[in-house]
Amino acid sequence: MRSLLFVPGSRPDRIAKALGAGADAVCIDLEDAVAPGDKAEARASVMEALARPREQSPRLGFRINPIRTPNGLADLAAYSASHAVADFIMIPKASHPVELEIIAGALEGHERPHLWPIVESAEGLSHAYEIASGPCVQGVLFGGADFAADLGTTMEWEPLFHARGTLAAAAAAAGIELLDVPYLDVNDDEGLAASTARVKALGFTGRACIHPRQIAGVNAAFTPTNTEIEQARRVLAAFADSKGGAALLDGKLVELPVIRAAERTLQAAGLVE
Ligand code: GLV
Ligand code: MG
Repeated sequence: MRSLLFVPGSRPDRIAKALGAGADAVCIDLEDAVAPGDKAEARASVMEALARPREQSPRLGFRINPIRTPNGLADLAAYSASHAVADFIMIPKASHPVELEIIAGALEGHERPHLWPIVESAEGLSHAYEIASGPCVQGVLFGGADFAADLGTTMEWEPLFHARGTLAAAAAAAGIELLDVPYLDVNDDEGLAASTARVKALGFTGRACIHPRQIAGVNAAFTPTNTEIEQARRVLAAFADSKGGAALLDGKLVELPVIRAAERTLQAAGLVE
């Protein structure tokens, strides 16, 4: 998924609109977007919303509360006892892979949704690869806001650089997707575009959004342009012409790593499996 739009679990009236906003996925939030006193009501209405028949796309899931809290346990229990069907469940404050084992175990028998742990603490980062390769994990979200708060840093590029790089390597090693924290200034389109281009360059595969107006920019950042697709095709053609040896294209060496990058571009464009 290139883009994932969060909607507050306390506003089920917004779900239908969010599903039509152009994001690849919509995540109904039971965690930070819902005030402590509203958790039970939001939980019940989210389960109801997830039990309604819907189109296959975009994917729809929800974020539970941290599994080490009573609210997190109640969210999971409510889901597994209901007729709700989520395409994915986001697991905030994931700090250790055992949490994923417990959640996957609790959902056995239920049509098991994909799990999306959120790494957003120093402890979680120290288990990045184990979390990324946990059961049913389809991707990881980098929770930059909580991560910065945990370390006592700001959300500038430099303080978060090491965490993003570590997560990119962990996600690639586990063969899963990696989404970045939403860009918090919803009116700053240029800042969104610039920072999203940077995280894509680091190896992220998508980004979460907190406002529908961010979706088009995020989708564009993670969709190869026609020029990139054309160049990827030229690279593959040059390599094919060289019969598997190294080739030169526009004076630059084309060998296996360059081929992998070209194939990845065509995959991201949905042009090959
Ligand atoms: C997301 O949950 C974040 O903390 O950035
Ligand atoms: Mg968070």
